[in-house]
Amino acid sequence: LITVRELYKHPEEHLGKEINVGGWVRSLRDSKAFGFIVVSDGSFFETLQIVYHDTLPNFAEVSKLSVGTAILVRGTLVSTPQAKQPFEIQAAEVTVEGTSSPDYPLQKKRHSLEFLRTISHLRPRTNTFQAVFRVRSLIAYAIHQYFQERDFVYVHTPLITGSDCEGAGEMFQVTTMDLNNIPKTEDGRADFSQDFFGKATNLTVSGQLNAETYAMAFRNVYTFGPTFRAENSNTTRHAAEFWMIEPEMAFADLDDNMCLAEGMLKYIIRFVLEHAPEEMNFFNQFVDKGLLDRLHNVLNSEFGRITYTEAVKILEEHNDEFDYKVSWGCDLQTEHERYLTEQVFKKPVFVTDYPKEIKAFYMKMNPDNKTVAAVDCLVPGIGEIIGGSQREDDYGRLTSRMDELGLKKEDYDFYLDLRKYGSTRHAGFGLGFERCVMYLTGMSNIRDVIPFPRTVNNCEL
Ligand code: 4AD
Ligand code: MG
Repeated sequence: LITVRELYKHPEEHLGKEINVGGWVRSLRDSKAFGFIVVSDGSFFETLQIVYHDTLPNFAEVSKLSVGTAILVRGTLVSTPQAKQPFEIQAAEVTVEGTSSPDYPLQKKRHSLEFLRTISHLRPRTNTFQAVFRVRSLIAYAIHQYFQERDFVYVHTPLITGSDCEGAGEMFQVTTMDLNNIPKTEDGRADFSQDFFGKATNLTVSGQLNAETYAMAFRNVYTFGPTFRAENSNTTRHAAEFWMIEPEMAFADLDDNMCLAEGMLKYIIRFVLEHAPEEMNFFNQFVDKGLLDRLHNVLNSEFGRITYTEAVKILEEHNDEFDYKVSWGCDLQTEHERYLTEQVFKKPVFVTDYPKEIKAFYMKMNPDNKTVAAVDCLVPGIGEIIGGSQREDDYGRLTSRMDELGLKKEDYDFYLDLRKYGSTRHAGFGLGFERCVMYLTGMSNIRDVIPFPRTVNNCEL
């Protein structure tokens, strides 16, 4: 079988020749002596038109086909310079592989994204989701290529872990214990010592702590895998299961971190514009009208940079426009992040040096003793897509920060060892993969960029 992609990429090699294609019927039109079938085979964003005549032995059967049917077609590819599509197939034979029952939900009309979310097993057959999930696949490929070209080692960090990297307590527990009969310790807490791993475990919220150990051996590494957060945030940009890319570099500081992040995002944008032009034009036309202009502008300018303290000064002047008022020390909300990147900078911006109280224990303390060497990258339309930092590499400062926060040092022995045996400055970040897909496609809900979304009250399929 030849793919529709191949026909579009190299039509001259197939025009006038007999070819075989397979695909699913998107729409049909028929009249007495002939008819048209539009099929998609998923290999390419464009569809393929089949023309058939009453010379087909099974003309009656073919005229009655319904949307969604899987067919095989043998026929000749002919060019159609007057028509919308560049060519069509004149069918000599149409074989029905599998009929589609008349209650097929994807009849030819526009369906809302909300409705399509209720049929996540069928939605990849629509234009929008064909485009989204091909671009998602390409972004993943581009990310690997970016890091591999720079000799970063891909590390597979575990999904089940005993630690809480971000210290936010937003973890899904993993246990084999009978939930109706959990043994208790003397002080009345759940006792996991008899559990599978002999201790309490959870799904990882980040591979960073493990990645740091490999950065101290390979210098430059990255992870790319699923992460889990039991955040009770029912928003358009939070998922309970999402993918994260976490590079970690030894002998690197916050500035190196920002250069790597900016280079990565620009690389991904260029890659997708080059490899998925049809899909990107579709998004620009039907999903987000300014998308292509915006992405081209990103390629032609440098990301903005501002400290948290400077950002708060700007935001405080606009407090009357915010639901949640800003003052130094507060965590920035999505509305503030979007204001900075959409109104102030009008491009991606790095915000650095946040108050230590609102950031994780592992971030390097700045000389002011109040802020840490953290960086978030904010983009228009979304807000934060990257969170990162330079790591505290000093044993004494790290342990005293852990004491302040009441973290149990014995849970972090491996992490502290890195500060005992050849410690060096190092930095890394986490890119939220779904937020990155949203940014590049203009899709506005995280549920529409992950094949089977897991969000509050939703774990279908
Ligand atoms: O800012 P976060 O929490 O940073 C970390 O996890 C660090 N350990 C990363 C590192 O330095 N190696 O998360 C990183 C990114 C966020 O910027 C956001 O894009 C994404 O992960 N993210 C989510 N995406 C979807 N749904 C959620 N619930 C997310 N939580 C974070
Ligand atoms: Mg963050």
